[in-house]
Amino acid sequence: MSDLLQIHKALADETRLRLLRLLSRSPLNVNEVIDILRMGQSRISRHLRILAEAGLVTRRREGTWIYYERSPDPQDKLVADVLHLGSDHERALPHFEADMQRMEAAIERRRQQTRSFFDSRRDGDELRHQSLDGAHYRQVALSLLPEHCDTILDLGTGSGLLLPALLARADKVIAVDASATMLELARASAGADGDRCEFRLGDLEHLPVRDGEADAVMACMVLHHVSTPSVALAEAWRALGDGGNLAIVDLARHEDESLRELADLWLGFQPAEMRRWLKMSGFEVQHADTVAPGIATNNDTDIQLITFTGRKPWQPAQSKSPRRERKRTASRATAAARSARTTTK
Ligand SMILES: C[S@@+](CC[C@H](N)C(=O)[O-])C[C@H]1O[C@@H](n2cnc3c(N)ncnc32)[C@H](O)[C@@H]1O
Repeated sequence: MSDLLQIHKALADETRLRLLRLLSRSPLNVNEVIDILRMGQSRISRHLRILAEAGLVTRRREGTWIYYERSPDPQDKLVADVLHLGSDHERALPHFEADMQRMEAAIERRRQQTRSFFDSRRDGDELRHQSLDGAHYRQVALSLLPEHCDTILDLGTGSGLLLPALLARADKVIAVDASATMLELARASAGADGDRCEFRLGDLEHLPVRDGEADAVMACMVLHHVSTPSVALAEAWRALGDGGNLAIVDLARHEDESLRELADLWLGFQPAEMRRWLKMSGFEVQHADTVAPGIATNNDTDIQLITFTGRKPWQPAQSKSPRRERKRTASRATAAARSARTTTK
């Protein structure tokens, strides 16, 4: 448990307060911090160490990289309270605007790298070859979604290989991706039912989707590419209507740095951090699992999958919404009829 005096000593410094403010937006590595704060490495490392020792930031090892983030241990109420108190007054600190602008530029550079990677993959077969065992993880992903939905939002749809199966269980699918090339490939994959699919170019951290527009969200093998996964999960929550479901399939924590060549920013996730982000966004975690075998990479490493489902709880004022319930029931009936038609063809 943290020590109140140590926390206050750690906070009594302008650079450390600036650092805390930055790390509340996104995990950063030392090079990114140096670039944003324009200070030398030894100075930055010393300040980060003091913050870490006080329990105000945590270190996150990503292969040979170390990222720092302001994510208190949920058990440590003292740190959580202090950080919460300070966060209301961060705007008043010196250099706020300049720090934030350089921070956004650093995050945009990460996004740009991912976009360039996927934009350069014009050949869907090449991509399929690189994401070995895709059929396996897509099957796992589908098993996590309800059988019938009104509107499914497919986050990071990629070349759209999940779309035919998603269209078979929803009236409408919204396929979002940051890469225009991937969306072009996805259009081709959607097949005959593609007219019920909307393709939207955009980032998972600023979804091009209205509040409550979807009743199910799929995040299949995308969060490890996203600059700040917790922000993407908060956006998924916003995009879902009350009672809506989120399904996540991603890589479990691993050490295979070769996957960085496939634009992987994060080397998988710990179940505990995914659960924490889901709860922070307001989801009820319904299911969490680790699936083995996961995927075999080009390096012959076997990486496990983690799967999660979360539910956006009904808001008390709307929990008795007979209109929405009737709409859901009608939509389930339509989907059931459609699936019956498909199977009797
Ligand atoms: C590995 S592919 C996954 C494709 C698909 N979900 C599947 O499982 O078949 C990851 C996709 O996510 C997209 N992506 C990565 N980061 C993104 C972001 N921040 N916002 C939107 N799309 C993103 C990439 O462009 C790429 O098409």
